[in-house]
Amino acid sequence: MHRRIIVPGVLASATLLLAIPASAASPSPGAPGIGDPYYPAYGNGGYDVSHYDLRLRYRPATDELEGTATLLARTTQDLSRFNLDFLLDVSEVRVDGAKASFTASGEHELEITPKRALPEGADVTVVVRYRGVPSSKEAYGFTGWHRTPDGGVAAGEPEAAWWWFPSNDHPLDKATYDVSVQVPDGTQAVSNGTLRSTDSRAGWTRWNWRSDKPQATYLATLAIGRFDITTGTTESGVPVLNAYSEDLGADAGAARASVERTGEVADWLTEYFGPYPYDALGGYVPNTDTGYALETQTRPFYSPRQFANGSNVSVVVHELAHQWYGNLVSVAGWKDIWINEGFARYAQWLWSEHEGEGTAQELADHVYASRPADDPFWTVRPGDPGPENQFHGAVYDRGALALQALRNEVGDEAFFTVLKGWPRKYAHGNATVADFRRYAEEVSGEPLAALFDTWLYQASKPEGPAARAVSG
Ligand code: ARG
Ligand code: ZN
Repeated sequence: MHRRIIVPGVLASATLLLAIPASAASPSPGAPGIGDPYYPAYGNGGYDVSHYDLRLRYRPATDELEGTATLLARTTQDLSRFNLDFLLDVSEVRVDGAKASFTASGEHELEITPKRALPEGADVTVVVRYRGVPSSKEAYGFTGWHRTPDGGVAAGEPEAAWWWFPSNDHPLDKATYDVSVQVPDGTQAVSNGTLRSTDSRAGWTRWNWRSDKPQATYLATLAIGRFDITTGTTESGVPVLNAYSEDLGADAGAARASVERTGEVADWLTEYFGPYPYDALGGYVPNTDTGYALETQTRPFYSPRQFANGSNVSVVVHELAHQWYGNLVSVAGWKDIWINEGFARYAQWLWSEHEGEGTAQELADHVYASRPADDPFWTVRPGDPGPENQFHGAVYDRGALALQALRNEVGDEAFFTVLKGWPRKYAHGNATVADFRRYAEEVSGEPLAALFDTWLYQASKPEGPAARAVSG
């Protein structure tokens, strides 16, 4: 515990006046949200988590999940109580070893009151014991838990964590993870990072996973079911582990023909984005019908439907591009979603060019030409789309169009310097759309406010000189 010591005559009197009330203030509750205007209840105030240790058991037949989450955190204010975000039923909470009282409130809040107030700057260990049936819970009418015939999968954006572990649920608070899950023998449990070991006894197999680089909560994943697992190594030496539901039916071939190219795609992306940031890689395809993919850290989630028409390496490119744009550098707030999706879509355009299936310029021209000015597509502002349009096609396509406009404005050299420099500049941190504009201005030496305004913030189809910038 650190207290500021006031030495009269050393500190200015103004500081003294401010310091006295601050240190005399009584501990107050941590805010129930981290302050994201799109999702006011997401995340919490007053502490920062550095590590999640999740030790769980899951029964596929009944969708019962139970276990213990141990969170290592540091307080950022004096705290009388604090919140976690969670939906399952909690039976016990301990803070630094002592039983704490707790209540569930709101859509997904767990309010915890420790025996004694916590001082600012303290390292705190929080243990939460819980159980529940994730598929029985919804919040705001949706779920991030997807039941499969042989298990379940946690995958959703901006939300997936509530259904399987208590957290400070916002990308601003990244942490490392150990995920250890016991499942019946013959069933697999897949998560992020490296499979450290498996251990079987008395009919149960424990799967021990470690994700040892900062990871946002929505990028943590758990998939339980019967999977075929393949392993390999990329040309650049990163271990690859992929998992395919045994039950993909007619899509099985196309799924493998796509996801088995993960190493090749990741290596190709390093040419544009710099070194692959993590020490594990892969993808998994459970038997869900969600229809979307998600860039879960090191090991994206794919749904079989994406392979219904044959191979789809483009979706692999998209999710792997997010490992840099979204995962290594994460949104500071959910309004900044363009710094994820605009770039992941643009990576798909670069891949198309690489495969001889159309250049980025041609694809940009196509998006521009195929959407008439009265298409509501142009009313979505990718730079601040609103929570209801966070994953609207315009965030992706108009978002990538904005990057083609930027490329044409600053030239290839500056553009590709920016693409590679950004993940490094904000590595393991968070950033905003405005941060990206400033960085592109710094690298290119050009003022870019007008271009960003036109392509990311204007609620109508860009015309005139701005549009010409797209056609180069
Ligand atoms: N980031 C994901 C992707 O584009 C989008 C996930 C959309 N989430 C959802 N619940 N529809 O790869
Ligand atoms: Zn995406």
